[in-house]
Amino acid sequence: MKDNLIAPSILSADFARLGEEVDNVLAAGADVVHFDVMDNHYVPNLTIGPLVCEALRKHGVTAPIDVHLMIRPVDRIIPDFAAAGASYITFHPEGSEHVDRTLQLIRDEGCKAGLVFNPATPLTHLQYVMDKVDMVLLMSVNPGFGGQSFLPSALDKLRQARQLIDESGRNIRLEIDGGVKVDNIGAIHAAGADTFVAGSAIFGAAQAQDPNDYDSVISALRGELAGSA
Ligand code: DX5
Ligand code: ZN
Repeated sequence: MKDNLIAPSILSADFARLGEEVDNVLAAGADVVHFDVMDNHYVPNLTIGPLVCEALRKHGVTAPIDVHLMIRPVDRIIPDFAAAGASYITFHPEGSEHVDRTLQLIRDEGCKAGLVFNPATPLTHLQYVMDKVDMVLLMSVNPGFGGQSFLPSALDKLRQARQLIDESGRNIRLEIDGGVKVDNIGAIHAAGADTFVAGSAIFGAAQAQDPNDYDSVISALRGELAGSA
C-alpha cells in the first residue's frame, strides 16, 4: 500500500486568514490541501473557485492541491482550475454527462484525475475507466457541509474499492472524505484508505485551543495510522 497522506479540508479553515491557515497545517505535517468547491446547485452550499486556488499558489503554497468539485456541470471550469495550480481534480459522476471525457480532459490539462462516490452511489462507474483515474474518493458523509458524522457503510465500500484497485494493479489513490477523526482514522485505514481528508477534526480542534498549533491533532492522526494495519 502507498504512503498515507493527510489532507486537511480548508472548508473548516478561517477564510479570512486562509493563506496563513494553509501554511500552518502544512508546517504541522499535513501532506495535501483538500479544496472543496460547491456551487449551490449540485450541493446546497457555495464555496470557493479557481481564483482562490490561484491565490494560494501565489501566496507560496507548493504542496499538492486536491480540488474536489461538488458542482454540475464540471467541464467548463476544469481548465481554469488546472491553470490556477490544481494538482488533483476530482468530480462526482452525477456532475458530468460524459464521465470518460471529463477524466480525459483533466489529464489533458496536466492534472491527476479522480472520481468521487456519494454514500449511495455504486462503484460501478469505475468499471470501464480504471485506466483513466489516479484517485478514487469515497464520501463518508453526504457532500455539502463539514462537521457531519462518518457513515459506517463507507467501511465496506472502502474494502470493495481497495479490492478493485489492487486487482487493477494500477497506481490509484483511495481517499476518504467526511467525518474522519482521531478515533476512527485507524479503522478507516484498516479498511483500505490511503488518503484522509479531515476538516473539522483539524481546523476545529486547533481553533478551539491555539489557532496556530495544528501539530497535536496531525500527530494524533498519524499515530493512529501507524498503529493500524
Ligand atoms: C463535504 C466536504 C468535505 C468536508 C469534510 O462535502 O467534501 O471535504 O469539508 O469535513 P469534515 O472532516 O468536517 O467532515
Ligand atoms: Zn471534500
